Amino acid sequence: MVRSALLNVMIKAARQAGRTLKRDFGEVEHLQVSLKGPANFVSAADRRAEQILRDELSKARPGYGFLGEEGGRTEGEDKSHTWIVDPLDGTTNFLHGIPHFAISIGLERDGAIIAALIYNPANEELFTAERGQGAYLNDQRLRVAARRRLSDSVVACALPHYGRGDLELGVKELAAVQVKVAGLRRFGAAALDLAYVAAGRFDAYWERNLSSWDMAAGILMVREAGGFVTDVEGRDAIFASGHIVAGNEWLQPELLRLLKAAAKD
Ligand code: IPD
Ligand code: CA
Ligand code: CA
Repeated sequence: MVRSALLNVMIKAARQAGRTLKRDFGEVEHLQVSLKGPANFVSAADRRAEQILRDELSKARPGYGFLGEEGGRTEGEDKSHTWIVDPLDGTTNFLHGIPHFAISIGLERDGAIIAALIYNPANEELFTAERGQGAYLNDQRLRVAARRRLSDSVVACALPHYGRGDLELGVKELAAVQVKVAGLRRFGAAALDLAYVAAGRFDAYWERNLSSWDMAAGILMVREAGGFVTDVEGRDAIFASGHIVAGNEWLQPELLRLLKAAAKD
């Protein structure tokens, strides 16, 4: 498979940051047993990974803007292009020694995401997509699942937790969806949830209150794998609301309908 120069730039940066994340992840597994715990260590690992991504991406594409979860926004001379980066998605998993986390890189051009990468250094799964060119897991072309019935489907979601999310609404949504599906999953890394929808592992996914860096790459990944992504109102304003519903052409609208009804109850 021949990859574009742009994807090669993104892959090189992600592999480099991934190497340090993986090393730090090994360290975290030891720190679990210490009384203080690995929290400070993990936030340093997170910042280190972002710095590598910032340095590498701006070396290869000088002038592009950069928006990273840790360091915020840096305007570039080139006002058309911005990298949108989460250096470590799935921090809670990372902190607890669970090997389900990822680097997420989206490239925005004039308001549209045109290239995407989601990389889990723990298992070396590398998801990439470019607008109009399809989505890939390593060298394998991705296609969303073909299931048409929620009753056959595995659906991913988030759960409101300590200090985050609307518990009342979350409980209503879960109650509405869980009785309709074959299985619900909460894996804890939004970028990978979207990559898994693109790969047909999850049939659908929804979550509220995300940030652009959690989903920039994943939205393109799902769409390039033939899937549908909207906010919870069925609109395209996903970044503005932070709410996202993804799936194939049958299940995405079906899930949307359930969520809308649950929110009205
Ligand atoms: C979080 C993960 C998680 C999602 C949270 C995000 P982080 O990102 O994607 O799955 O439920 O809303 O904030 O903090 O690990 O980068
Ligand atoms: Ca995140
Ligand atoms: Ca993060």
